[in-house]
Amino acid sequence: MGQPTTVRGLLEVASTWLKEQGVDEARLNTEHLLAHVLGCRRLDLYLDIDRPLDDAERDRFRGLMRRRGARIPLAYLLGTKGFMGHDFKVAPGVLIPRPETEQLVLSGQAALAGREAPRFADVGTGSGCVALSLLALVPAATGLGIDVSPDALELAEQNRAAHPAGARLRLVQGSLLSGVEPGSLDLVLSNPPYITPSEHGLLAPEVKDHEPAVALFDEEGLPLTARLVREAAAALAPGGVLVIETGFDKASLVRGFFVAEGFVDVETVADLAEIERVVVGRRPA
Ligand SMILES: C[S@@+](CC[C@H](N)C(=O)[O-])C[C@H]1O[C@@H](n2cnc3c(N)ncnc32)[C@H](O)[C@@H]1O
Repeated sequence: MGQPTTVRGLLEVASTWLKEQGVDEARLNTEHLLAHVLGCRRLDLYLDIDRPLDDAERDRFRGLMRRRGARIPLAYLLGTKGFMGHDFKVAPGVLIPRPETEQLVLSGQAALAGREAPRFADVGTGSGCVALSLLALVPAATGLGIDVSPDALELAEQNRAAHPAGARLRLVQGSLLSGVEPGSLDLVLSNPPYITPSEHGLLAPEVKDHEPAVALFDEEGLPLTARLVREAAAALAPGGVLVIETGFDKASLVRGFFVAEGFVDVETVADLAEIERVVVGRRPA
């Protein structure tokens, strides 16, 4: 990486090196990591571009750059990820929130419009980003965040405790909706694992080597999502709504699960990249 000592020199040399390691958006990643080490915003790097770094700062930055070059995701190195305007803690062992999942939250919000004191479950809550964001948008709601992964629940608890809407979220360990009282929910929403074994080779090293398999993978034909739709049909009250995020080419498969379980008004909502991403359906009243 050479021996530069200022912000300007380090940004230049380190981002070139990171690009050579095959990392996308190498300059942006370098800026994030340098700002993280210096405890400033990315913009501040440019406002004091000839600022020298001391030895400890440079060592810390080099350590982070090496780990990023080994394709550890940026969010795991920074320890946070922004989602729906809020910073959530992230850590290895738990899925990093994705921008496309914001559509899941917005579809959940639409489903709860006009309901008094609605109750929902977020199945596979991970960091808790979906449940907490929805609670922030719907102040009358209470939520249940369910996950099989102890790592996810531990992190979700930290996010719950730090979030203004956290008091309205209860976290439980369990598989899908197994412990939920039949007919008790107004909304079930979920971003379940939906990558199939045949898609493994398409994944970036950051994802396949560092994010947890339990958060990523289902079998061909999405049997876990099919089970979730079946269990949601039982857990929802009449008129309750099910909202599920799925893979870029899997919306029609998932719509079929909804129809087979008797959901009505089944439709697909596109994400910001115009990919059919979220399937919505209602239990008949
Ligand atoms: C794609 S991640 C979604 C995490 C978070 N909701 C988000 O959108 O960022 C899927 C989550 O489902 C959890 N999971 C996998 N199988 C499950 C099951 N049978 N029951 C409950 N949760 C499950 C994983 O541990 C993981 O946290």
